[in-house]
Amino acid sequence: MAAERGLAMATCTAPVNIAVIKYWGKRDTDLILPINSSLSVTLHQDQLRTTTTAAASRDFTEDRLWLNGKEVDVGHPRVQACLREVSALARLYGLEEELSEVARRGSGSACRSMFGGFVQWQRGERPDGTDSLALQVAPETHWPELRVLVLVVSGEKKPVGSTAGMQTSVETSPLLKHRAEVVVPERLAQMMQHIQERDFEGFGQLAMRDSNQFHATCLDTFPPIFYLTDVSRHIIALVHRYNAHHGHTKVAYTFDAGPNAVIFALADAVAEFVEVVRRSFPPAANGDQFVRGLPVGSAALPQELLAAVLAEPLPGAVRYILHTKPGPGPQLVDDPSQHLLGADGLPRSRA
Ligand code: PMV
Repeated sequence: MAAERGLAMATCTAPVNIAVIKYWGKRDTDLILPINSSLSVTLHQDQLRTTTTAAASRDFTEDRLWLNGKEVDVGHPRVQACLREVSALARLYGLEEELSEVARRGSGSACRSMFGGFVQWQRGERPDGTDSLALQVAPETHWPELRVLVLVVSGEKKPVGSTAGMQTSVETSPLLKHRAEVVVPERLAQMMQHIQERDFEGFGQLAMRDSNQFHATCLDTFPPIFYLTDVSRHIIALVHRYNAHHGHTKVAYTFDAGPNAVIFALADAVAEFVEVVRRSFPPAANGDQFVRGLPVGSAALPQELLAAVLAEPLPGAVRYILHTKPGPGPQLVDDPSQHLLGADGLPRSRA
């Protein structure tokens, strides 16, 4: 086929990341430059990933983009910025830091997904953003026991998107200014050390504190922004009761711009904590689908733990739990049958 001859196609999967030192606020909204550095854990693509196919051909007369099978407007400034960066990159092929710059132009925190394991997005100093890049702090193999549980809560709805929300915070929250100037630089150094030393006590405590301060800046924003719901707050309280019962940090939560909890734990704590969540938020239906992802063993809960940790159960409040772990960065997919586009460059119709 004529179109096939000049067609170059590549498919890539990319991971999701979850910040333990949060990014909130831009100093340049066009270039997407943050007011503070941030640090995240890249989650494993066996459980959560995005798949993208790109096709290029001299025969194509325009740029087109499909998102989840639906065509979207390529005129959006962020799409334009990414396409511009990508075509410049075609000439500088193969530089990973440059790719994190492209990803940043789409959604700031996405640049951290260019690497696996533990990743810092350094804010940079230059006005042109060339030093605002993601860097790997440690690979996914660095902390083999670390596990992640995503608690997907019911009735999820983002009241204010992160783009609009963070700019209102930049304009109105004195706490955010203090956080960016004083708190984050100290915490970033501490968090790097906890990760280096695989110190779960330090890592977990700081992740919880930083999530809480991010949500405090949302409340300090005027008018205030609320991302946590009652269910999120029940999960927070449960984690603290659970850790208090054990006398140390066994599990740690973090929340982004929404009510779902992301819990960090070491592998040997997962089965017991999952059982605690199941007892606290009994599944409404599909009990067998409640825990997804990596297998979770069974755990019997001792009576004194039940008495100390469980509160009034909230049936159906947590829809399901996804069990995953840190994982690698983007992967090129070799198998051509996995391309989302056909030889004509259009989305493959799915049978
Ligand atoms: O990059 P955005 O616009 O999706 O903002 C992400 C902001 C948080 O998820 C709340 C924090 C973070 O660092 O990921």
